[in-house]
Amino acid sequence: MSILTITGGSKLSGIIEIPGAKNAVLPVLAATLLNKGISILENCPELDDVFTMLEILSALGCKIEREGSRIIVDATTLSSSVIPENLAKRMRSSIIMLGAVLGRCGDVLVSYPGGCEIGMRPIDMHLRALEQMGAEVDGLSHGMLKVSASKLQGCEILLDYPSVGATENIMLAATYAEGETIIRNAAKEPEIEDLQEFLKKMGVDVSGAGSGVIRIQGKKEIKSEPVHKIIPDRIVAGTYLAAAAATGGSLVVTGVEYDHIGSILYCLKRIGCKIKHYQGGVVTLESQGRLKAIDLIRTSPYPGFPTDMQPQIVSLLSICSGTSIVVETVFESRFRYTEQLLKLGADINVQGRAAIIRGVEKLKGAEVEARDLRGGAALIIAGLAAEGETRISGVGYIDRGYEKVEKVLSKVGAQIRRVED
Ligand code: EPZ
Repeated sequence: MSILTITGGSKLSGIIEIPGAKNAVLPVLAATLLNKGISILENCPELDDVFTMLEILSALGCKIEREGSRIIVDATTLSSSVIPENLAKRMRSSIIMLGAVLGRCGDVLVSYPGGCEIGMRPIDMHLRALEQMGAEVDGLSHGMLKVSASKLQGCEILLDYPSVGATENIMLAATYAEGETIIRNAAKEPEIEDLQEFLKKMGVDVSGAGSGVIRIQGKKEIKSEPVHKIIPDRIVAGTYLAAAAATGGSLVVTGVEYDHIGSILYCLKRIGCKIKHYQGGVVTLESQGRLKAIDLIRTSPYPGFPTDMQPQIVSLLSICSGTSIVVETVFESRFRYTEQLLKLGADINVQGRAAIIRGVEKLKGAEVEARDLRGGAALIIAGLAAEGETRISGVGYIDRGYEKVEKVLSKVGAQIRRVED
């Protein structure tokens, strides 16, 4: 098992090119199943979750080619509608295949995704919506889920929460449904808009992504050759900017969509960082001296402050002067990583959905364990700012969302290495 060792105290400085978004490429890869042709995707991040998704696509009968950040999927003929259990268990978000496989094949067998470190993560909204469209859901024994529908019917669906995954699954299932599907209270994340853009390039009649109401006209068949560039990863950009802030450094990130990271930049400015942005997706951050606490941050669906940046900002606030309160409104237990921050000397008190963070002068390096992706990113940020050496195990979680993290950070001055434990 590899671990990351960090010697804290170096100020980050330099340029990082931000890769394509994990949470955009995964649903787009699922959407390629709807195309009885070849789909070409550019700017795909090289991440373990992407590789797992590619294994699932080839298990279903797709031909896959990958050259660096370009992925070519030929889904002309599929040979199966069973998502291999070992692969589905490796990646919770394989549930995103549900709507696409069901839409294309008329049935799908997938293992029920378990909860994880950040919460139960039920899929009731996904299943209720598919049943509304005429699907039959059988919760088979030993955790397998069978969903079937000879022909899905377009209909009006109101989500009781703007779930990203449920919105994506309905968009994909609606592509081959009879008639129009309207999704009300749909998620507005940029990744939903990117999925819409890809579906439109496939020839799907879809509109409204980003507005909260999405309309999809079902098609009989889709045979096309879409070429699509995946949007940049707003959470990776925010993570590296927060790391630069925590080390009192300065960083240039390129290839970003400024609007997608607006709420993250707003918080970094309130903490005391100097932020500038330039045409062509360039954002610079400078952080001098002691940063200051933020009295209250609440995570919320886009365009609010993203839950996927909550651990990273808590880590940064743990060394800002003053007391901050962070409220996590999206997931019910997304503060488990703070146990590890306490080992580094942070002063954090979690009360239900709220974390009270009293800034300390300095963190001290320690042995810590990542147990989820963004919690692991928070530990890296804390280790970069801490005095002495920090050793982070559970690096596999971090590799699911950050490409070659130790190489990227070393290039901008971090003393970080990946060693085999
Ligand atoms: C997506 O997860 C992202 N993952 C998550 O990113 C992100 O945190 C989340 O959206 C919110 O932005 C991918 O895109 C692969 P949700 P998803 O459905 O779709 C509850 C990361 O670190 N809910 O919007 O699973 C759910 O429990 C990951 O990159 C139901 O109750 O999130 C949660 O409390 C972590 N029933 C809330 O809704 C349902 O049927 C939001 O979940 C579905 C969701």
